[in-house]
Amino acid sequence: DPTAARRPVESIEVESDNLTYSDDALLAQYTFHSTAVNKSVDENGQAKYKVKPVEKHLEFRTERKVPKTGLMLVGLGGNNGTTLVATVLANRHNISWGTRDGIQTPNYLGSLVRASTMRLGVDDKGDDVYVPLSDVLPMVHPNDLVVGGWDISALPLDGAMRRAKVLEYDLQRQLAPLMAEYKPLPSIYYPTFINANQGERADNVLPGQDKHAHLEQVRRDIREFKQQNDLDQVIVLWTANTERYSRLIDGVNDTADNLLRAIEQSHDEVSPSTIFAVASILEGVPYINGAPNNTFVPGAIELAERENAFIAGDDFKSGQTKVKSVLAEYLVNAGIKPRLIASYNHLGNNDGKNLSAPAQFRSKEISKASVVDDMVASNSLLYKTLAKKEADSEDGFVKGSSVEHPDHCIVIKYLPAAGDDKKALDDYTSEIGMGGRNTLSIYNTCQDSLLATPLIIDLCLLAELMTRVTYRESGNQEFERLYSVLGLLSYMLKAPLTKPGKAPINSLSRQRGALEAFLRACLGLQPGSDLINFTQME
Ligand code: NAI
Repeated sequence: DPTAARRPVESIEVESDNLTYSDDALLAQYTFHSTAVNKSVDENGQAKYKVKPVEKHLEFRTERKVPKTGLMLVGLGGNNGTTLVATVLANRHNISWGTRDGIQTPNYLGSLVRASTMRLGVDDKGDDVYVPLSDVLPMVHPNDLVVGGWDISALPLDGAMRRAKVLEYDLQRQLAPLMAEYKPLPSIYYPTFINANQGERADNVLPGQDKHAHLEQVRRDIREFKQQNDLDQVIVLWTANTERYSRLIDGVNDTADNLLRAIEQSHDEVSPSTIFAVASILEGVPYINGAPNNTFVPGAIELAERENAFIAGDDFKSGQTKVKSVLAEYLVNAGIKPRLIASYNHLGNNDGKNLSAPAQFRSKEISKASVVDDMVASNSLLYKTLAKKEADSEDGFVKGSSVEHPDHCIVIKYLPAAGDDKKALDDYTSEIGMGGRNTLSIYNTCQDSLLATPLIIDLCLLAELMTRVTYRESGNQEFERLYSVLGLLSYMLKAPLTKPGKAPINSLSRQRGALEAFLRACLGLQPGSDLINFTQME
């Protein structure tokens, strides 16, 4: 069996009529239970809810063969790019290094797939049984990823790793000969999109200003990378500088056809990242945006839908925002009302340097700001619906929002001496019972790139898995691919991209719950429930 070779050991075996094993696929029957609600308000202003349980019968098909997978990073020579390559190489070659605390061995800490577990069920004594997420379905191992990509800086990755100042000297020393073999491909550089202070490193750029020629070159790069490395699948991920927002202009980036035409005409408002996204979509490889840029202008999303290609974004959710989504959820779900959230950051790496101009900072601010919106909207006992006059007032962060909102500010300052350590200071001031106040003051310091690298790995491995899962509603003949915008990757992303018109879900526990539910559904298993554990209703 030629496919068996690329099939990892499957440690879980499901004994159920709902799961059929064939040589090349897992075929799962799954009943999705949901609750349909119809809300109305009677003449006394009393809310009424008509509720109906709904069942949907689905079939999931997961290919068992794990493809040989390439990961192409845009921004390969940056702090995240070099740290990702170094992490994969150190793990693959089992390189240990000396630190002042002793010998450190490589690992994938911080990766949901490689370093976290999920509750599979209970054993015959009623005790919980946990399994690594990576064991639930056949998934690519990060040690097997073939990594490559582009950077506007030509520095080979040994030098780029040194420039990044993230990893310990003894690790850098051992990795240098391996890293030196990685040389970024020339990239697209349109100076107005990133901070002018990045110009000095832009010595590896595609010639000319013909955007269509740039698109074709990136498409060729993807194809050649695939051929040269004998790959079955490629994922492209943007971890390059944060760009300013592209202006949304009717006739330019509003539809797929207009966007393609705007690229033909080298329109000023088409950003480098949108060209990378369009190239990936046209090559049929998933494209993930790890920065807050509005790469996915409406025309790019429409193109992905039309081409049945996968996209996901925006902006890695590594530190402060992850904590914020958890805290906001805890407070609001506890009936406590956050009134003020103030977030100050300072950092000293090249990302901070790029964010020191207003247009690039603004992209980051927008992406960081929306994370509490859905929690606020979920609790009408705490946050009142505003009358139109109040909603339109300038007072408050979210102008035009129809619900009351906490005051919320985000500040980012570039202080070179902080290096790759990001220091985030947050003040959450909430209203508690009877007019009381509660202030939580959080000080969060971390090596930014060491938090982002495992997110890149998770995004890549999970996106790859999602290309191998198809589904159909019972009665339908054809299996379909998942919807183009991979919302299931929201856990790793600050401002999750959604189907146009759908609001994102920022709750970290719901994001993780959805991923677990998806992995289980592919095995024909219902989501885990704790009802029995808490009630002992054996
Ligand atoms: P970095 O500045 O060290 O790396 C970015 C790299 O992109 C640089 O090597 C630069 O030369 C290159 N670059 C710029 N424009 C390019 C283009 N058009 N094509 C190809 N390469 C280009 O930044 P770092 O720390 O690696 O972060 C990367 C991105 O990830 C930033 O946009 C940042 O905002 C985002 N991010 C990082 C997080 C983290 O924790 N490290 C968290 C959330 C987002």
